[in-house]
Amino acid sequence: MRNPPIRTVVVGGEFEHDVLVGAGLLDVAGQRLAAWEWNGATRVLLVVDANVMAHADRVEASFRSSGHATARVILEASENRKSMDAVEAIWSAALSARLTRHDLIVAVGGGLIGDVAGFAAATFLRGVRWLAVPTTLLAMVDASTGGKTGINLVLPGGDLGKNLAGSFWPPVEVLADPETLATLPSREFQSGLAECIKHAIIDGEDHVAWLERLLPAIAADVSQERLVSLTDLVARSVFVKAKVVTEDPRERGIRAVLNLGHTFGHAFETDPRLDLTHGEAVAVGIMAACQVGEELRGFAHRNRVRDLLSVAGLPTSLPRSVPVADIEARMGFDKKSEGGSLRFVVPCAFGRVEPKVEVPPSVVRGALLAVGCEA
Ligand code: GLY
Repeated sequence: MRNPPIRTVVVGGEFEHDVLVGAGLLDVAGQRLAAWEWNGATRVLLVVDANVMAHADRVEASFRSSGHATARVILEASENRKSMDAVEAIWSAALSARLTRHDLIVAVGGGLIGDVAGFAAATFLRGVRWLAVPTTLLAMVDASTGGKTGINLVLPGGDLGKNLAGSFWPPVEVLADPETLATLPSREFQSGLAECIKHAIIDGEDHVAWLERLLPAIAADVSQERLVSLTDLVARSVFVKAKVVTEDPRERGIRAVLNLGHTFGHAFETDPRLDLTHGEAVAVGIMAACQVGEELRGFAHRNRVRDLLSVAGLPTSLPRSVPVADIEARMGFDKKSEGGSLRFVVPCAFGRVEPKVEVPPSVVRGALLAVGCEA
């Protein structure tokens, strides 16, 4: 077997940070801290997803062996708990651990843990540094990189509004260890693949064709060689995100392409009748966006995208029919709606994705019907 490599992807610009991808990184977090240009931390607070205690043990052991005092706060990773309660729990733990502005918060878990821990880090003592140790594919290829942190809010009427309060506060580094993916439930792994497919569509034909070859191999492979493929998968996907974030860290323009499939996806995800994970909802959202692209921009690859999502084990239409008006109402609450008109990220071709396209309501409705909403 080839030795699993450690790859480094650099996010440049305002939110400069490195993303390291490779097997064994869980055990070197403490050493990494000593290697950073800034290394003044003496205390480390780990914010840990209750499902990944064994991974957190390894990270904590590495900080202890590098001479840091550690403490831990354990959170339940669910969208309902991505709230101020969780942020307050982290602030309290940080006070108990006597964290100062020189110290470090470390998020060990999925995107949800990173979002909450990053937001707590952004606000505790007006900002302390944080390190992301993502343990899900979704968090590795998307959530951990690029500095978006935040929580959900409850909308008037009681529904959950996703990521409606937060800040841009990038981690000092991301350590993505693909060994953690071995214990990830397959539905969670597939959820992350939706973001990999999104990045490939944004990147271009080569990346899409590479995924078309790689995904069936990853699904079939249970050997150690799989770690090499997973490292490649994560690194190539993060590279796309890093390029976009470097250019437009605060989403004033081009970064919005990373929301491909998400305006539709958030509406599907927040409808409890559909019971979709984030990645599943984004997968169906990508199909709806492809339909819009076909209609408005001549996008010609809807079938290839459908096949790729299917090979990844993701849905390409809704698991049950819901009234189209319900989903339209949910989309009206999305942050991406501007001045009353809905704007969408629309694929024109592989490698050419247009953000902020104003889409006529009839075209939105057509796309929703095409993925299984009922009139
Ligand atoms: N997940 C989209 C972004 O980070 O901009």
